[in-house]
Amino acid sequence: MTRLPDPRPRPPEGSALIDTYGRIAQDLRVSLTDRCSFRCTYCMPAEGLPWIPQPQMLSDDELMRLIGVFIGAGVTQVRLTGGEPLLRRSIVELVAGIAALRPRPAIAMTTNGAALAAVAAPLAAAGLDRVNVSLDTIDASQFLALTRRDRLADVIAGLAAAADAGLTPVKVNAVAMRGVNDAVVADLLAWCLARGYELRFIEQMPLDAQHGWDRSVMVTAEEIKAGLEARFELTPVESTDRGSAPAARFLVDGGPATVGIIASVSEPFCSACDRVRLTADGQVRNCLFSERETDLRGPLRDGASDAELLGLIRGEMWRKGPAHGIGRPDFHQPDRPMSAIGG
Ligand code: 5AD
Ligand code: SF4
Repeated sequence: MTRLPDPRPRPPEGSALIDTYGRIAQDLRVSLTDRCSFRCTYCMPAEGLPWIPQPQMLSDDELMRLIGVFIGAGVTQVRLTGGEPLLRRSIVELVAGIAALRPRPAIAMTTNGAALAAVAAPLAAAGLDRVNVSLDTIDASQFLALTRRDRLADVIAGLAAAADAGLTPVKVNAVAMRGVNDAVVADLLAWCLARGYELRFIEQMPLDAQHGWDRSVMVTAEEIKAGLEARFELTPVESTDRGSAPAARFLVDGGPATVGIIASVSEPFCSACDRVRLTADGQVRNCLFSERETDLRGPLRDGASDAELLGLIRGEMWRKGPAHGIGRPDFHQPDRPMSAIGG
């Protein structure tokens, strides 16, 4: 990754993770591993990826130290992602460690749900507040086609366990893929409504390791909405309630249940972005789509102080661009795939 000198002045004094557009990052997304038990077609090739070598992975102590620095920098929510975060064996201890930080952040997780049934209760007891489970279809053959794994029953059990453990409202994330599940988005909504799960669709983004994304094939937010409206009446929820949340939300059949549609590509929400990302190998990224990142692992292992680490993180945020630029002629898909950045 190229390291060019920064032409802009340094960020102002203070500890906030501010960028040159005035946005302040408060939502830290930590990728705990780039490995995954699934092979979703919009993410990875069937054979998997060259995983990050073990010596480059942050240890639990290193992760906790860095998360602590982010908390000191004003982060109020920590979302644990992957790859698949439940593949990290120490996941319950990590959640407990984060819950012990002060000020205590809200703790959320994005998981494929396959291993959730057994750990939902211990995670909730350790301090996990919320969970987002990725589930694109409730049709077993479509599920197999999308994830290349026959694990639908495990994910369904994981969702039920999350609800039982009080990780509510349980949220479901779905990507609509043309020719696979795009015709049945209303079925997924009906299924989620019946169980009290909050469903959000996300437009497919160019983050697959295979670089197979094609805008002309992407199922747009508009199409997803039309597919839902074939069966449900959707009423927009006032955007003033939306804050930095990227999903356009709709009441379903008058409410109170809602459905979200995140038009990450067709209507980017970058101007309200409050996110910062830490990869499993200790790189801080100011955007899913950034073409560069700042190494924290090397300085950390070389004995950097918290103040020095904070300075590096603030420098990375100061470089944050105005928007992802998907669709612009100079847009480049990032070298790292989604599974190594964290969702
Ligand atoms: N575009 C949109 N969403 C994606 N996800 C993974 N890859 C992509 C992509 N290319 C979703 C997963 C999960 C979350 C981490 O991001 O389905 O819900
Ligand atoms: Fe795994 Fe998530 Fe990628 Fe699917 S999208 S292969 S569940 S990391």
